[in-house]
Amino acid sequence: MDLFRKKPLALPQGGESKLSKTLGAFDLTTLGVGAIIGTGIFVMTGVAAAEHAGPALVISFVLAGFACVLSALCYSEFASTLPVSGSAYAYSYVAFGELLAWILGWDLVLEYGVAAAAVSSGWSGYFQGLLEGFGLHLPTALSGAYNPDEGTFINLPAVIIILLISFLLTRGVKETARFNAVMVVIKLAVILLFIFTGIFYVKPENWTPFMPYGFNGVVNGAATVFFAYIGFDALSTAAEEVKRPQRDLPIGIISSLAICTVLYISVSLVLTGIVPYTSLNVSDPVSFALRFVDQNMIAGLISVGAIAGMTTVLLVLLFGQTRLLYAISRDGLLPKSWSKVDEKTHTPVRSTWLVGGIISVLTGIVPLDRLANLTSIGTLFAFLIVSLGVITLRRTHPDMKRGFRVPWVPFIPLLSAAACGYLMYNLGRETWIGFLIWLAIGLVIYALYGYRHSKLHQIGRNNDK
Ligand code: ALA
Repeated sequence: MDLFRKKPLALPQGGESKLSKTLGAFDLTTLGVGAIIGTGIFVMTGVAAAEHAGPALVISFVLAGFACVLSALCYSEFASTLPVSGSAYAYSYVAFGELLAWILGWDLVLEYGVAAAAVSSGWSGYFQGLLEGFGLHLPTALSGAYNPDEGTFINLPAVIIILLISFLLTRGVKETARFNAVMVVIKLAVILLFIFTGIFYVKPENWTPFMPYGFNGVVNGAATVFFAYIGFDALSTAAEEVKRPQRDLPIGIISSLAICTVLYISVSLVLTGIVPYTSLNVSDPVSFALRFVDQNMIAGLISVGAIAGMTTVLLVLLFGQTRLLYAISRDGLLPKSWSKVDEKTHTPVRSTWLVGGIISVLTGIVPLDRLANLTSIGTLFAFLIVSLGVITLRRTHPDMKRGFRVPWVPFIPLLSAAACGYLMYNLGRETWIGFLIWLAIGLVIYALYGYRHSKLHQIGRNNDK
């Protein structure tokens, strides 16, 4: 039994890829900001301030951002060493062998899938806020995740947006660079609008007590808002298409993270300055804050921008998810039929609907904070493995050509792994249980299906004959 069979390197070291190398540092930064800013800043900030960090939310953002920058360096090295599409799943198939690759792939399925459910739930909060601005109300039963005590049974708008985007993806609608750029401008505009309008309503007394739940609360808050930074890892999947990966990839990843960190810090300062933190546990805190100071018109504009912004994040996540399933099933670890591409639309129709269906059920009945925390634990786990992977790969393949090298190895990767582990630790028991159940299901699937159907297994058997 060989659980650690490795895929041969897909590309010769430093070899030529067929994809055209067109992306520069600026494009990568735009792509990154497009994939990052969404439900995290527009929604999760509310619950993080009200229940965990209080006005010290700003410190939570700094801590989570720090962990992300460290992991981003490790991602950059991985991506520039093995510039193959398919993200961390594909790298670890080459570097660590099949079992860990499957675990990571399965973990990423969780990351993208549950993240999409979380973002659509955030989308629904803003959408309903906007409807209310026009005096329209959804029946309570259809307005939120399953919670009979509050009279809510299904989050209908969230279900509908997921199905709608799945439909778009099956039609072959691809997120073009221009569409993404427009969305990025809209997102940045509404965030700046919020900061520069809100700043005039800040009352410094709202910032005291600064740390109502102590430092523990701040770290729990960091684990919660970590969600807001997820997305930069997707940039590494574009490695094959970057003109100068050594220079552009780290610049793109780090500058998109830096831009988001600065914006997040400013938004959290203004938000907690306008509204007492105890009132922030609402589904559209950023617009809510402006309604709180009677800026209804601007609040409406921000809702529209937030909805548009979250829609792009959803597109990227669902697209990433189907691409990942495609890669896994092509390797034989999941049924081959999932990588079947429709002849007319050139999209994996079956896996798109499968993913869309499952995610729409999740988003319909599970509350946002649970979905977001589950996403975060899965992502942190992937970051942790990628960080340790940098050290391993330096040992096992010291001479491999590396486009970008993390400085101070093993110190930085170890610090990155420790920071991710610490945030995971702070995500709470319920999240851990969900995560472990997910991994256990993954191992069962591998044992019953993947191990025997894997392409590598088939090749190995043919060689034995
Ligand atoms: N970072 C993404 C968001 O906040 C997942 O929506």
